[in-house]
Amino acid sequence: MPKPLDDLFSFLRFASISTDSRHAQDVRDCATWLLAKLNGMGLKAELHETARHPVVVARNSHQPGRKTVLIYGHYDVQPVDPLDLWHSDPFSPEIREGKIWARGATDNKGQMLAHVLGVEKTLREQADLPVNLIFLFEGEEEIGSPNLAPFLQAQRENLRCDVIAVSDTGMVAAGVPTMGYGLRGIACAEVTLRGPKGDLHSGIYGGAVANPATAIARLVASLHDPKGRIQVAGFYDDVRPLETWEREMWQKVPGVTDQDFLNVTGSPSVFGEESFSSAERVWARPTAEVNGIGGGYQGEGSKTVLPAQAFAKFSFRLVPDQDPKDVMEKVRSHFEKNCPAGVSIDIEIGHDGKPYLSDPHSPDGKAAQRALSKAFGREPVLIREGGSIPIIQTFREILHADTLLLGLALPDCQIHAPNENFPVANFEAGILLNQHLLNELAL
Ligand code: BES
Ligand code: MN
Repeated sequence: MPKPLDDLFSFLRFASISTDSRHAQDVRDCATWLLAKLNGMGLKAELHETARHPVVVARNSHQPGRKTVLIYGHYDVQPVDPLDLWHSDPFSPEIREGKIWARGATDNKGQMLAHVLGVEKTLREQADLPVNLIFLFEGEEEIGSPNLAPFLQAQRENLRCDVIAVSDTGMVAAGVPTMGYGLRGIACAEVTLRGPKGDLHSGIYGGAVANPATAIARLVASLHDPKGRIQVAGFYDDVRPLETWEREMWQKVPGVTDQDFLNVTGSPSVFGEESFSSAERVWARPTAEVNGIGGGYQGEGSKTVLPAQAFAKFSFRLVPDQDPKDVMEKVRSHFEKNCPAGVSIDIEIGHDGKPYLSDPHSPDGKAAQRALSKAFGREPVLIREGGSIPIIQTFREILHADTLLLGLALPDCQIHAPNENFPVANFEAGILLNQHLLNELAL
């Protein structure tokens, strides 16, 4: 097997699931492997402990007068369940149909290693890098990067840089180089509604006390009007309107027609806020999503039970200039005000992250676009991303540097889902992209 794929396969074999404490040692072993890889290619790498999973930092020897480029990635992955839907073991990578199949193949190990191997190849071919490089790799992105902001604060002198590059986002279609210049923010919460002190017979008590499952359905339904507009008071107050140049530019972006959304998602029709295209809805408009809902009997057949409690898990995707903490206060009041009679409400606020928006036409943005053109042989498209990487806006606030989002994921890479995969071609293009990127950023 060619050496780059060999490295990727080794990296993918670690079950570095950050959210699951049973995998803490796998996360650590993965960081240790990374440390050895980076030291082995002639960089000076260090492993830094945090309250939970380690951060790995590596650098070449810095020279005055050179641009300092920080490259960020994450070596942790999402859980694999439901395991029975995978066609091969998530941590025994395989190549089929020109794609690498494994958890983390795309998000983020494949994309992250393309950075590392692009640097390794440049070191081998040019004997030196044209820039001062800092690699910053964390093991907690998939749990909201709880320990990275304090780490950045503590290390902000050592991590001082001019620009940041990250491949942890998407391409609109195969072969279409894509630069992201925005990300949505996120705010999460979980609501539990409680009724009787224990599950009840729904015949003996049904009708006399409130049913928490009915109540949670009403609460969930209160978030949107029938047309999909969010009903939380003040929710849209700080939403920055789309710019005309963006809307015009996005109309020419391939891979994001309504038909494309239908093909990738398998939904019977698209649905969303009136007078916005599907791409605009995802890239530049906020949402309120239910990620999970439950309560009462989930087994086969029927059971006449009146459940004692019911819950729903929510996440809100945010756009500039919404602030996650401010939005969450508005959401909290909405839930309290709209809580149906007869149940008590418990709201647990989860993690959050700010939205990000930068100027794609900055000098570094243009350098990244030249690198994308050279690596893929065609002009890149410029998009915002619907997903979130909370640390990107924190980079701007603490390190005062903007981030170039050079995504390599395809719409059908199935990140976070069973059968995650990454085309070998994207991995190879990513390595080439990083070689061009260092040279173009140095100009
Ligand atoms: N790589 C993704 C984010 C992403 C994917 C951005 C595709 C754009 C396009 C990242 O690892 C991720 O999944 N982030 C989480 C946020 C986090 C706070 C759990 C997300 O977006 O749900
Ligand atoms: Mn992810």
